[in-house]
Amino acid sequence: MTFLPPGHLAVIMDGNGRWAKARGLDRFHGHIQGVESIRRTVELCIEHGIKYLTLYAFSTENWGRPDEEVNGLMELLCKCTVNEVPELKKQGVRVRFIGDLDILDDKVRESIENSHRETRDNDKLHLMLAVNYGSRAELTSSLKEIANMVIDGDLAIDDITSDLISEKLYTSGIPDPDLIIRTSGECRLSNFLLWQAAYSEFYFTDVLWPDFGREEFERAIENYKKRTRRFGLVHNK
Ligand code: FPP
Repeated sequence: MTFLPPGHLAVIMDGNGRWAKARGLDRFHGHIQGVESIRRTVELCIEHGIKYLTLYAFSTENWGRPDEEVNGLMELLCKCTVNEVPELKKQGVRVRFIGDLDILDDKVRESIENSHRETRDNDKLHLMLAVNYGSRAELTSSLKEIANMVIDGDLAIDDITSDLISEKLYTSGIPDPDLIIRTSGECRLSNFLLWQAAYSEFYFTDVLWPDFGREEFERAIENYKKRTRRFGLVHNK
């Protein structure tokens, strides 16, 4: 058993739309309520001594949602990034966004860059928000960069290692997730941290993301602490 909480927790925040629909509300209310769950989860991670938290906020596939929802999510992202930074800074949280950020609107990018700058000296909790994130795109870009190093004569084929591939990912320098939680009863990774999740533990819960609070968080952490992680080795009894 690990006995310890995960050093790095990653969450696929799912079920905002269903939460809203069940209350006869517009889907967007689910996303607004989802922000409350993010605040709670950040506080719970700090309380439990978890050092890294990665949240899947917007995938490369989410652009295919209706324009109204995509624009609303981008606005919410921008608003939250601006409004939440002072409190996150106070809490000792370092904020980072991972994903292909180049194609985001200038206003969104500026708010992201500001959050990076404002919180870069913090170390209590590293909060990574995955936006326009897709694991296949991340790996493709990493492999292209490595191929170019080979073409330019800066790298020998034999020097391509899994560590080097990890270094070229958006998550460079961030430890792999120990535990990945997905809410809302779906049991899949949906293009999230495919490389980094090689030895992650998984916890799937029926709770919808806007309802995810202390009780389910602690259930997931306690469940994780009882897991025996072998990383492909033999378990020593
Ligand atoms: C999945 O629920 C949720 C998302 C795609 C967005 C997650 C966003 C938030 C928690 C709000 C904060 C947003 C940003 C960008 C910081 P879903 O809409 O797929 O729910 P459903 O499966 O019930 O339809």
